[in-house]
Order: sequence, then C-alpha cells, then structure tokens
Amino acid sequence: MSNKKMITAALPYANGPVHIGHLAGVYIPADVYARFQRRSGKDVAFICGSDEHGIPITIRAKKEGVTPQDIVDKYHEIIKKSFSDLGISFDEYSRTTSENHRETSQDFFKVLYEKGKFTEEMSEQYFDEQANEFLADRYIVGTCPNCGNENAYGDQCEKCGSTLSPSELINPKSMLSGNVPILKETKNWYLPLNEYEDFLNEWIIEGHKDDWKPNVYGQVKSWLNDGLKPRAMTRDLNWGVPVPLPNADGKVLYVWFDAPIGYISFTKEWAAKNGKDWKEYWQSEHSDLVHFIGKDNIVFHCIIFPAMMKAHGDFVMPKNVPAFEFLNLENDKISTSRNWAVWAHEYVEDFPGQQDVLRYALLSSAPETKDNNFTWKDFQTKNNSELVGIFGNFINRVAVLIHKYYDGIVPKPSGFSINDQLTLNIIRNIPKNIAFYLEKYEFRNALNEMMNIARVGNKYLADEEPWKTINNDPARVRTQMYIAVQISAMLATFCEPFLPFTSKKLKDILNLKVIDYPRSHFSPLNSMILKNSINIESKVSYLDLEWDDFAYILDEIIPANHQINESSLLFSKIEDDVIDFQIQKLENTKQSNKKTNPNANPMKDEIQFDDFTKIDLRTATILTAEKVEKADKLLKLTVDTGVDVRTVVSGIAESFTPEEVIGKQVMILLNLAPRKIRGIESQGMLLLTTKPDGKLSFVTPDDSNVENGIEIG
Ligand code: MF3
Ligand code: ZN
Repeated sequence: MSNKKMITAALPYANGPVHIGHLAGVYIPADVYARFQRRSGKDVAFICGSDEHGIPITIRAKKEGVTPQDIVDKYHEIIKKSFSDLGISFDEYSRTTSENHRETSQDFFKVLYEKGKFTEEMSEQYFDEQANEFLADRYIVGTCPNCGNENAYGDQCEKCGSTLSPSELINPKSMLSGNVPILKETKNWYLPLNEYEDFLNEWIIEGHKDDWKPNVYGQVKSWLNDGLKPRAMTRDLNWGVPVPLPNADGKVLYVWFDAPIGYISFTKEWAAKNGKDWKEYWQSEHSDLVHFIGKDNIVFHCIIFPAMMKAHGDFVMPKNVPAFEFLNLENDKISTSRNWAVWAHEYVEDFPGQQDVLRYALLSSAPETKDNNFTWKDFQTKNNSELVGIFGNFINRVAVLIHKYYDGIVPKPSGFSINDQLTLNIIRNIPKNIAFYLEKYEFRNALNEMMNIARVGNKYLADEEPWKTINNDPARVRTQMYIAVQISAMLATFCEPFLPFTSKKLKDILNLKVIDYPRSHFSPLNSMILKNSINIESKVSYLDLEWDDFAYILDEIIPANHQINESSLLFSKIEDDVIDFQIQKLENTKQSNKKTNPNANPMKDEIQFDDFTKIDLRTATILTAEKVEKADKLLKLTVDTGVDVRTVVSGIAESFTPEEVIGKQVMILLNLAPRKIRGIESQGMLLLTTKPDGKLSFVTPDDSNVENGIEIG
C-alpha cells in the first residue's frame, strides 16, 4: 500500500488571472482530493506553481508593452492569492522562473542528453530578421491550409481546431513585426517519442484500461494509434530555461519540457523547507503520483512527460491522470481574450466570506465526463436551495433547539427507536461512500453523498418533530436531539474536503476540538492505533482522528454533557439583485465585445491621472530626414519641438520616403529618456498608428494652424 500521495495540479500560465473554468476543472477537485487524502492519514504533497515560460507569456508582455518578467511577477501574485483565498491547500506554490527550477530542469535535460536520449536535428525554422528572433508556435500567424482562416497560429488554428506547424501556414507573418519571415537553419534536440510507443502501450493501454477515465484513456489510445513522432524539446527563443549545453546560445528548453519538471522542482523546495526527502514522493513505489489537469493537457501528461521520465530512468509513472473537460459560462465558451469569464479574484471581492459557495457550485457542476455549464441563476439556486435550504437549515435548527431546551449542553440519550437506528444506519455508510467516489475521482457523486448527511438530518427532524414531542415526551426529545447533534458532527467532519471554511466554522460551533476519546473505542486494527499507540488507555483527540476512525464512533462523536457554542450563520441567502449585477456584468462584456475591433489588443493596466500628467506630448515639425545606414526601417529626423530642435530616430522608413515627411507636423513624446539607436542618440518618440495595410501613419493635429511646442492632453 502506498502511504504517500504526490498530487499535482496543472501549473497555470502566469499570463492572466485564473477563472472558474480553471477552478472547476483542476484546482478545486484537486484540493478536495488532497484534503481527503490528508484526512485519511496519507502523507500528502500537493504541489503547484506558476508556469512562467512559453510564448503565451511573451505575447502578453508584447501586448501590454512590458517585459515578460513584469508579466509573470504580476500574475504570479494574483493567481497565488486567488488560490489561497479560495482555500486551495497547496503545500507549495512556486514558480518556474525560480533558480531551483532552472537547475532542476537543466539537470534533467543533461541526464537525458548524457544518456543519449535525444537526437540532434537541423531544420529550417521561420526567422524574423528585424526582431532577430526565431518564430516558434504562436509567434507566427498565417492562413490555415485547412479552413482558410487568416489568423491561424503556427501551432494551431483556433477556427477549425487543427494542429499545425509553422511551415504549413500560407502567407506566414511574424507576430513580432508583421514582416514576412525568412527560413533559417537551426539545430534542436528532439525526443524520439516513437521509441516509447511500446512502453506507453503496455503501461497505459494494457495497464490502465479500467482505472483511468474513459476520456483520458481514449485520447491516449488515439494518439498512440496515429503513431508518435520525434518532438523538439528545445526552442530558439530568448525567454525560458537556457539549454545547458555549450554552443546553445539563444536556445531554451521547450516550455512543455520545463513546466512539468516544475512539479519536481517545487516538491524539492517544499521538501527542503519541511525536512522531507523529495525522492520518496517521486522515485518510490510507495508513492502514488496523481496529475490533475484539463483535457487540453492530456498528451503532455500521459505521453510526453512520462516518456521524459522513462528516458531519465529514476521516476515512477503517474498512477492516474484525472483530466477534466471544459466548463462553459452561460452556455458560451469561456474566453480570456473576450473577457468571457468569472475571474477568481473578482469573485472573492464580490462575494466576501462566500468561498465555499463557489466551491460547492463548481464541484456540483464539475465537467467530469463532458463539458458542463455554469450559470449565475444556477449558482444562486445551489446556494439558496441547497446550502441554505438543506445544510444551513439543518444546523440552524439543531443549534437553536439545543440552546433553547438544554442551554447548549448535549443531552443524554435513553434507548434508540427503530427510526433512530435506521437513520444512523443510513448515515453510517456515507463516509465510506464519499471515500469510494473520491478514490474514483467522481467529485459530484462524492459531494452529493456529503449533502445526504444533511438531507437525512432534515428528514429525521421532520419525522420526529422534537418541537412537538417536547410537549408530551420531553425524555424522548433528549434522544432525538442527541442524534441530531451526532449528525451535525458528521456533517462538520465530512464536509471538510469540499467546504473547508464551513467545516471550520461548524467545528467551532460544535466545539469539537476539546473532545477526546479513549483509545479503546477504536478497533485494534484501526490504522491510528497501529501507528501511534503503545498505551491503549490513553486518549485520542478529535483533531487527530482520520477519516476511517470515525466508523467506530459515529453515534458518539459528541458525548452527552458536551457544551456547544452559540451558533453563527453558515450560509446566507443570495438575493436577486446580487445575481442580476453579475449577469449585467457579463451582458456588458457581450455588448462591448460586439462593438470593438476583434483584432484590438486588450486594454493595458489602469493608470492614475498623475501617471498621465507625467507624459509630455507636444506638437512638432519634421525639419530634415535621412536614411540610417544599414537599417532598412529607420529614418534619422531633426524635429522642431517648439522647445528645441532635436534628433529623433524613427522606424518609419518602410512607410515613408525622407522627402515625404519633411515639413510634416507631428506629435512627439518629448520627455522620453534618450536612447541610442544604431549609434545615434534618439531624443523622443513620434506618435504613429498602423493602417489596415500595415503601413504606418502619423498622428497629426486636426488643424493646420497649430504652433510647435503646444502641449497635448
Ligand atoms: N500552463 C499549462 C496550461 O495552462 C499547463 C502546464 S502543466 C505542466 O495549459 F505540467 F506543464 F506544468
Ligand atoms: Zn483552420
């Protein structure tokens, strides 16, 4: 039996905040699983972090006009905070730009290199001469050979969904400069995935037919049926982990090579801080490795990363890769670029203290076997009818009655009726059922079982009607309320993986932490007794009990005479206006998506008026213009700014001849720090925009009678 659980959740790209699709499809289920395993006494490492390399990051940086480092610094913090606000209990949340990750992924690469696992291949790749960069994957756009979409990427056409390579694009264009790229020879290191086909077939297709989810198994099977090809594990880019070989300048590890190794690097970081040995989690058969991912990541976690680990030789293969399908929002695909999403950080702000409501709503519509849909109306119903109506209502009634009848002191029962026994019997199976479903990654069923505890509790009170019994048989009410209290304690205990905030509140109300039990209550076979105890007479605290231990004390989790605290509200009704506000927000997004140019970049970060006033924009006139030697794009200009006459180097030579610009009135950013361009000091920047044909045009004053040096603002 494995006593370690090495649980990973896909590393989110630090190029934007996380939304409910990420949460429902990866992070909340993974958290439920990790919390459950910890409660079951497993030695858990639940590891995640930001994926900070790759083209999604550099593209975002370009769009926002900042460096890739700025982008990852910003989003790493936002994402990390959202996860912690929502109770995602990572043991480590690190980042792939860390020093340790660079070392770990480079070492991994070197092991494969030294073992001769790579092939070196020369190939012709597109190259942007102006930017002096190779153009991988998303750095290149062109017409899709399959559907004619003019905005297909070098790795994929989003319109028809086909997977592409840059060489297949018709009319390729660089995303960096808009120029037509040239082909240039370059060397890269490939992992011959075809050599791992037999291993993958045996391990997954034969070995995991029954325990992996059909969607995961099916995808892997179809990839293997099509046959695998060697895949480049390095790229000619300047953002990433440098390839640790001599003569590999300007080459970095492929982001899908370095990112999954992040799971290992981050485990190392966690282990070092906590006096653990990371190898026991990654290189021991006593450890179960489980990857939580979205369906678009299946090939990387079931084929490429396993092949890498196999090539390395020291690692265990994942036990399971529970991949989820996608969550839609109001029947429309969630999209970051269209801002069609509910963002985690905005939810936390808009619904303070209601993290568990989102966890509950997303778990109950988790896209386990097919794409699923989130609607705000549904969210409201789940809160009002289920969390408030079933869970909250039950606890509230119990707490009120215990205080009303017994001043908060749990009464002593006297003999269980048939209905008492039946009720307890139904409930007795629930923890086992929850565990059964969670081990199969069936989170919706598990959640439903947990809610059954509250349903049974409500039914019990409705059948027994203690508020009526109190008038003619007060002794009987003692037993009824005793049982209702036990059900409440079960709810507090077993809702923890799903609703950790609620569980904590309820445990406080029930004051569970002060309760302990004689060890003799538990079977000698009980795991905890075997683990910790020599002295059978000593006591065990509620806090130390594991999931299965409760089987021995289910009808006596809370002993008679135990004092319960004042009740506080667990859930509150969500009114229509709150939901309407959210729906309106989406409606606004829809409207503004309709109006805007689909090719326009998203708005940059908000700035303050003060930031704006720092910018000194003036009208100016170009006095002279000449070409800059050996630079096709540059003109050297002298400009009368009204304040002075100065030199500006501007990248406009492909749009204008020098003669055309002389005498033009333009707008200049006057207080930009001077910069040397091709040896010439450029003092300021002219304002330009791009026309549909790609040519530049000047931003000029509307009126021809404007003097130079007039401030714009
Ligand atoms: N950043 C990737 C995505 O969002 C996931 C990386 S998972 C890892 O699709 F295994 F590579 F880390
Ligand atoms: Zn297409």
